[in-house]
Amino acid sequence: QNRLILDTDGGVDDAQALLLLIANGRAPDAITTVFGNVSLASATRNILTTLAVAGADIPVYGGAAQPLVQPIIDATHIHGEDGLGGAPRLEVFGDPHGDDAVQFLRETLLQAAMDGEKVDILTIGPLTNLALVLHLEPKVIAGIGRLIIMGGTLNGRGNTTPAAEFNIYADPEAASIVFGSDIETVVVPWETCATHQMQGQEIEEMFAGVGDSAGKRFSQALANQSREIVKSYTGMDIMRFVDPLAAAVAIDPAIVTRSLTASVKVALAPGITRGMTVVDPSRRLGTPPVVLVEAVDLDRMKELYRASVGELRLSA
Ligand code: BDR
Ligand code: CA
Repeated sequence: QNRLILDTDGGVDDAQALLLLIANGRAPDAITTVFGNVSLASATRNILTTLAVAGADIPVYGGAAQPLVQPIIDATHIHGEDGLGGAPRLEVFGDPHGDDAVQFLRETLLQAAMDGEKVDILTIGPLTNLALVLHLEPKVIAGIGRLIIMGGTLNGRGNTTPAAEFNIYADPEAASIVFGSDIETVVVPWETCATHQMQGQEIEEMFAGVGDSAGKRFSQALANQSREIVKSYTGMDIMRFVDPLAAAVAIDPAIVTRSLTASVKVALAPGITRGMTVVDPSRRLGTPPVVLVEAVDLDRMKELYRASVGELRLSA
């Protein structure tokens, strides 16, 4: 299996996705952080605290603090002021390994290309870090295996604007660079995430069967924040698998039960469609085809999630 780099904006479901990877045998070899759900500084801190909860020693590199062109937006109204919905933190967590994620990506991917290796990349935040490295050094593409992106929409139903999903809307120019690059890409779009859910009752039962630990308390707080937010928007007591769904695809590609191959272009013009991913199965957009995930095996998804919500220290 290829090495894996996780690029994340450190929100509630980013923490869940990271725990999922660690618990299910696909711990990232390195993590790069980006502004997004919260500020870059909070994203980095949240990832370090999640690693502390998991007892995992993985190098973290801080990356872009703002989008390429437009002003910054965040989603603290979804993820809480601290970005983790106030989840209880462990006192001790280390420092980031470095503060130049783009340089780290450049060196790592070029080295991999020289060694005839490939590194998979999983992005669950805005695509700014990846866009910067692709712009700086297009040769890095030779070192990238599979790119898995949580972001965009399949049918133009956004979560941040009517047409745009957060990770793309937060930096459309960056997303446009990435979708224009010839990389083997799997996209996990918003609508797919929104329809893969776990009922509140089922979550309660799951946690009731897990012994008390820092990991459990942390995971439960993340799940509760997720449920609260969905409830405030829809009235339903459910948790949606968002970033964890993309993590599951990185862990087990066979989890995908239905997908669509299409070219994708990001709408950049100002106005109501800015940040929308236009998807064309007839591939007339002039961008390389990508695979868009439409459905996954939900039982398998829940199984991977269950494995990640208890005491992780031994498996990390
Ligand atoms: C994306 O935005 C964030 O809120 C989530 O972490 C996810 O990456 C969903 O649109
Ligand atoms: Ca995220």
